[in-house]
Order: sequence, then structure tokens, then C-alpha cells
Amino acid sequence: MVSGMRPTGRLHLGHYHGAIRNWLELQHQHECFFFIADWHALTTHYEETEGLSEHVFDMMVDWLACGLSPGASVLFIQSRVPEHAELYLLLSMVTPLSWLERIPSYKETLEQSDRDLATYGFLGYPLLQAADILIYRGRGVPVGEDQRAHVEFTREVARRFNYLYGRESDFVERAERILDRLGRNEARLYRQWRRDFQEQGNLESLGAARELLRGLQSVPMGDLELLDGYLEGECRMILPEPQEYLTKASKITGLDGRKMSKSYQNAIELREEPESVKKKLMGMMTDPARKRRTDPGDPEECPVWDLHQVYSDEDTKAWVQDGCRSAGIGCIDCKNRVLDPMIEELRPIRENAQEYLADRAGVLALIHEGCETARDVARDTLEEVSAAMGLSDE
Ligand code: TRP
Ligand code: SF4
Repeated sequence: MVSGMRPTGRLHLGHYHGAIRNWLELQHQHECFFFIADWHALTTHYEETEGLSEHVFDMMVDWLACGLSPGASVLFIQSRVPEHAELYLLLSMVTPLSWLERIPSYKETLEQSDRDLATYGFLGYPLLQAADILIYRGRGVPVGEDQRAHVEFTREVARRFNYLYGRESDFVERAERILDRLGRNEARLYRQWRRDFQEQGNLESLGAARELLRGLQSVPMGDLELLDGYLEGECRMILPEPQEYLTKASKITGLDGRKMSKSYQNAIELREEPESVKKKLMGMMTDPARKRRTDPGDPEECPVWDLHQVYSDEDTKAWVQDGCRSAGIGCIDCKNRVLDPMIEELRPIRENAQEYLADRAGVLALIHEGCETARDVARDTLEEVSAAMGLSDE
């Protein structure tokens, strides 16, 4: 699994419930690479770099404080793994301009943003993201819906790369020879699943065959790529195509009813002190139709209701629904019910963050280690990619 986050500094509840909570689970189930995408920040904010490195540090502190663990996942910073940039350059050679120009968010942002984004770097944003993913041969990319097009684009780039550099004239003979050397049972299963997929388009068989390949510890990487590619066609899978792993994110609305975001100044931060959490929550927007305590309201029109989805049990939710619609409860009562669980959730995170902040050298050492681990993996991929493109010096 590979995912990145742009460095906006201290995390808020939107980050936590939208992404981090999923990552916390994933890190124990998969091999995970999580990084802070500081180069991506520059694609849009190249004129406002003040504080960037502090934002990166703060974000890492909050990741750690939430429980992302360097023992379970690789946590690092994009710009400290320059191999991403090298792969980005190599991929740029084969990426049609039109693919980048037609990414939906590109034109939209270009036209709507008050920044000047008519730059080469901003056009290349999705390709940099593709390199981020492909350099770890990521299979799954945990992201929100807004990133789906970027992962799709990553697949197209990988497919094109494999097609250009993974085809060899003796491909089929080589694949068959590798199969002949496999255990009889494995070869039989592989062939059967390959046929199921090729003749009937059975995706489960394709998945089963991939699973089988992953379990073949003693077979060299190059041979596995070849067998992986042979499942679908006749070229080696040098860069596997990733799937988006859409996070079952909880929507956390900001204090003013818009999406929670630092730039809207409508966020509750994870390190926020209880007093401040309380103050912000009490000032949070409610259903505009409920001007007075005696006016009935509609939870669907109220951002506080989104918080109940996260923090309240079924009884409490029923209490809100009835009480709001009948004006039986006041908005202060209603908000008070989420206040305690929210403060309880944030307490350990805030305390952890304080400990990490008191040990800056320790955090820097963890970051350094994560970056080195990521580089080792990235270098392997890059070597193969370079060789496939004719750049190896053997
Ligand atoms: N573009 C992503 C976002 O805005 C951040 C990102 C950069 C990313 N590189 C990535 C996400 C690689 C997943 C994989 O949220
Ligand atoms: Fe929102 Fe609760 Fe007030 Fe209804 S009672 S408007 S859900 S805060």
C-alpha cells in the first residue's frame, strides 16, 4: 500500500477520520509506505514556502502521535527519496501530454485558482504521484474519491511502460520455461487460472493467480514479473498496475459547514486543548433553520450531525433525531454529547504529540530511518526501470 499526504502542518479531525484511521488499520495488514508529499506542495504553493519544513515536521509528529508506527509501516518524506524524481523523469519520456491535460482536476484548478498554475510542475502533478506509487510497486493506494483519477492515470502510465519496455520476442517461450520449472501443482493452478481469466475474463482467477505468485518465495523477481505479465498478455509487468483503495471515510465537516480544512480556518486540530475544543464546538454552525431554541431543526442540514455519526451510539443518534426535529433538545445539549468522546479521543494524541515534540532529535532519527528504508526499495525498482529503458551500464 502506498499513500501520501500534502504537508499542511498539524493534523485536524478531518485528516484523522478521513485517512489516518484507515492507515492505522492497514499498517498491520499490509506492507505500507506512507509519506509526506512536500514536492506536491510546491506544485501549487511554490510562492509560499515559508514554514514548509516545519509543516512537514509537525505532520510527522502527528502521524506518530496517532499511532502510525515506524515498526509497522515505512514513514518518510518524499523529497528525501530523490528516486521519486528520477522515476518521474523517466516516466515523463513516455507520458503523452494529452493524458495530463485531460485529468479533470487539472483544467478546473488551473482556471479557478487565484495562483498562477500555468507551470510545468503543476501539469506534472499526477505524474509525480504516479512515480510515488510505482516506485514501490504499490498494489493498493488508500485515497479519497478525489484522487481516483490520479490512480487511474497511474495505471495507464504503468501499462504503457510495460508495453514499451516489457515486451521481448521470446516472451512466451520464457514464460513457459519458467512454468516448467515450478512445482507441478503450482504450474497446474497457474495455467488453469490464467485460462479462466483469458477465456472468461474471470477476475477472481486473476487475483488467485497473483496471490499464488506472491507466495513463490524462491522464484527470482524478474521471473515473477514475467509470469505476472503472462497472465494478462505478453509483456513483463515491470511496474504493476495499482488499484485505488477507496477509504470508507467519515465525513467531517468544518465549524462553518464547509469541508474541514486548515485554509478555511474551520478545523479542530488533533493537538487542540480541551478548552479550545469546547469553545470551537460551541461556536460550530448548526441547522440555519433553527434560529431559536423553539424552532425544530433537521440533522441532515447540520454539521454537528456528522460528528454524531463518528462519536455517538445508536441511542444517542435516535435522541438527536427526535429531539432536533421536535425542538425537544437544544443545540448546546446536542453538542455536549459529542464533546466528551471527542476530548477523550484527542487526549492521548495530544499527550503523545507533546512527548514527540520534546524529543525532536528522536523524531528526526525516525524520519531518517524511514527515508533510508524507502530508498532501498525505491533503488531496486529504479535499477530495473533503468535497465529496461536501456540505461544500465552492464
Ligand atoms: N495527491 C494526493 C493528495 O492531494 C497526495 C499524494 C501525493 C498521494 N502522492 C501520492 C496520494 C501517492 C497517494 C499516493 O491527497
Ligand atoms: Fe444540529 Fe443538534 Fe442543533 Fe439539531 S439539535 S440543529 S443536530 S446541533
